[in-house]
Amino acid sequence: MSKTQIVLTLVLWAGVALCKQYVYDDDADGWLKLHKIPLTWQEAFMTCHLEDAVLASPTNDALHQAMLTAVKKAEIDLPIYIGTKEMFVDGLYASIEGVQLEDMPVKFPSTNGIKPDVCVSLTIEGVVAFTNCSEWLPYICYKKNTTHLKYNYDCGTFDREYQYNAATGSCYKLHKQARTWRLAYKICTAEGGHLVIINNKTEDDVVVNILKGKPKKLYWELSHAGFFDWNKDLLTFLTIHGEKMNTVYNIWNKNQPDNKGVNIYGGILENGKLDEEWDSREAYFVCEKDPKIQLYDKVGFSMAFV
Ligand SMILES: *[C@@H]1O[C@H](CO)[C@@H](O)[C@H](O)[C@H]1NC(C)=O
Ligand SMILES: *[C@@H]1O[C@H](CO)[C@@H](O)[C@H](O)[C@H]1NC(C)=O
Ligand SMILES: *[C@@H]1O[C@H](CO)[C@@H](O)[C@H](O)[C@H]1NC(C)=O
Repeated sequence: MSKTQIVLTLVLWAGVALCKQYVYDDDADGWLKLHKIPLTWQEAFMTCHLEDAVLASPTNDALHQAMLTAVKKAEIDLPIYIGTKEMFVDGLYASIEGVQLEDMPVKFPSTNGIKPDVCVSLTIEGVVAFTNCSEWLPYICYKKNTTHLKYNYDCGTFDREYQYNAATGSCYKLHKQARTWRLAYKICTAEGGHLVIINNKTEDDVVVNILKGKPKKLYWELSHAGFFDWNKDLLTFLTIHGEKMNTVYNIWNKNQPDNKGVNIYGGILENGKLDEEWDSREAYFVCEKDPKIQLYDKVGFSMAFV
């Protein structure tokens, strides 16, 4: 390697490193990701779940410390939600993994004889509070390192369902559970990608081919794709990344788009042509992921310095 090559490699590495989202903690034996944007407990739980992790709880000293470190690094203030709530019966508080709150290394507040709220937050170092689940708070997702985890090096994720396609240079995953367009958008984002954006005929063919694997259970053939009408009154279809349709694949099916202002969510038919639908219609979809984005640190780059 020449000096220039080494510098280039380092710059590239640094650029990609910024995209790393889950940070490994040796003592906690897993990866943590702090979400600064607050959500309700249920939505925080769901976001971590969709990221293939769990809403973190201070179930032991190491994880508790790792959570506090993550909060400090992100320069946010406590409280944050923890993945612990009252489960099914009065007074039984447990983490998602089933650890009882009473067994965690934390202090409890006095509740003055009033029934405590259902959800739990971490308030100051070592102290939890009972919290109304509809409050909006930041939270941490935790992914435990286990021996059965196998990194998908081609696509920069643990999700083995993402497959690299050499013709487009992207990774794709077919989702076989029908969802609304908006939930599909959320799911793809949680997986570190986005709802598929069809750039050209090559990619359209690739996506049509992947979609041949979808279940045949729905009455409609349309699958969600990454474009929508950004202004209902003015029929302003752009991709989810704001690209004009004339810069990407843009062959609509006959007589489409129709039903202006109602059918605002983009989709692709089995013939590869574009169509749109309304917000409550569930359909299958493909997520696309940039293979250069490594979602976890200390895995994807073990080769970088060899
Ligand atoms: C939680 O807060 C919401 C909104 O502020 C309120 O409507 C609800 O009654 C509260 N729930 C409990 C159990 O206090
Ligand atoms: C189509 O777009 C992909 C990126 O999505 C690119 O890699 C490929 O070269 C393009 N193919 C053509 C024929 O323009
Ligand atoms: C995860 O655990 C395995 C098996 O114990 C270990 O070999 C690996 O180095 C761990 N991963 C990280 C990032 O430390």
